[in-house]
Amino acid sequence: MNLTHDYLRERPRRNRISRGTRALIEETQVRVDKLIEPLFLLDGQNRSEEISSMPGIFRMSEDKTLAHVEASLKFGIQSFILFPAVEDSLKDSTGSYSWAKNNFYLRIIRSLKKNFPEAVLISDVALDPYSSDGHDGIVKDGIILNDETLDVLAKMSLAQAEAGIDILGPSDMMDGRVAYLRNALDQQNFTHVGIMAYTAKYASAFYGPFRDALHSAPKFGDKQTYQMNPANAREALREARLDSEEGADYLMVKPALAYLDIIHRIKAASDLPVVCYNVSGEYAMIKVTGEKGYLDPVRARDEMLLAFFRAGADAVITYFAHEFAKANA
Ligand code: PBG
Repeated sequence: MNLTHDYLRERPRRNRISRGTRALIEETQVRVDKLIEPLFLLDGQNRSEEISSMPGIFRMSEDKTLAHVEASLKFGIQSFILFPAVEDSLKDSTGSYSWAKNNFYLRIIRSLKKNFPEAVLISDVALDPYSSDGHDGIVKDGIILNDETLDVLAKMSLAQAEAGIDILGPSDMMDGRVAYLRNALDQQNFTHVGIMAYTAKYASAFYGPFRDALHSAPKFGDKQTYQMNPANAREALREARLDSEEGADYLMVKPALAYLDIIHRIKAASDLPVVCYNVSGEYAMIKVTGEKGYLDPVRARDEMLLAFFRAGADAVITYFAHEFAKANA
């Protein structure tokens, strides 16, 4: 073996030679204040139920949520996205509980805002947690209606804005949501309330555990007439253009792990911040294989979070937020 210096003038290994040089060349970091923690909310008091398909994640009542958020804030998390787990008896075809005065979701938003005014609170604006059909829109004769659903979404949004939400998260992946809600907010002087658009939300098997968590699986059919085909990337750019023209403050890609190319492409195509949603199935995959001893779940978690930022995400919604923040506090 006689490698000439000419042949190996470049030796990338020189930069990996020690912990110190590896740190010098490290390109990406995971910052705790760039993680958004999802919370599943329950009505009542002193309730905390572990979600069987998402080990370590709980549905919590107001008191438990407040204590949990206090701990998360101590670990450096600043942002939360809130999902209601609604009793089946309160669900109907128009999702009317979503803007009802005594709605526990709105009550918990108020209480979080009062106790932790600095925390960034992001909502879910969609019919599925409240719908007896388990779809994100109003259903008529088996068709999921686009425009007819807007009125309920606006009512829900204004009720959330009134309760103190900082950013709305319209998650139904239908057309014209951002413009309609921006308009509704502005007319009521909620110009400070932001909109995080679910820009490229794919019809994905990776939502399975979440639908268990909220008992929100569709009662018939699937979501392919509104959520995107996993085969498409250019269509995501079209959605990004529209959300941006409609006044979105953030563009989101969901799921995240199988869609790193979409994160990268939207980041390149737009000047808006890009968020990705590391969804329930992606969380469960690592938790369950970790529990079985098939891989190291902590290293797999950290590698996965890193990949989202490397791909170009400005922020990441992840069920790992709390444990990652705790481990790195
Ligand atoms: C629907 C909604 C879904 C998720 C968040 N909002 C699932 C769906 O489209 O059925 C999934 C989140 C996750 O899997 O973690 N409004």
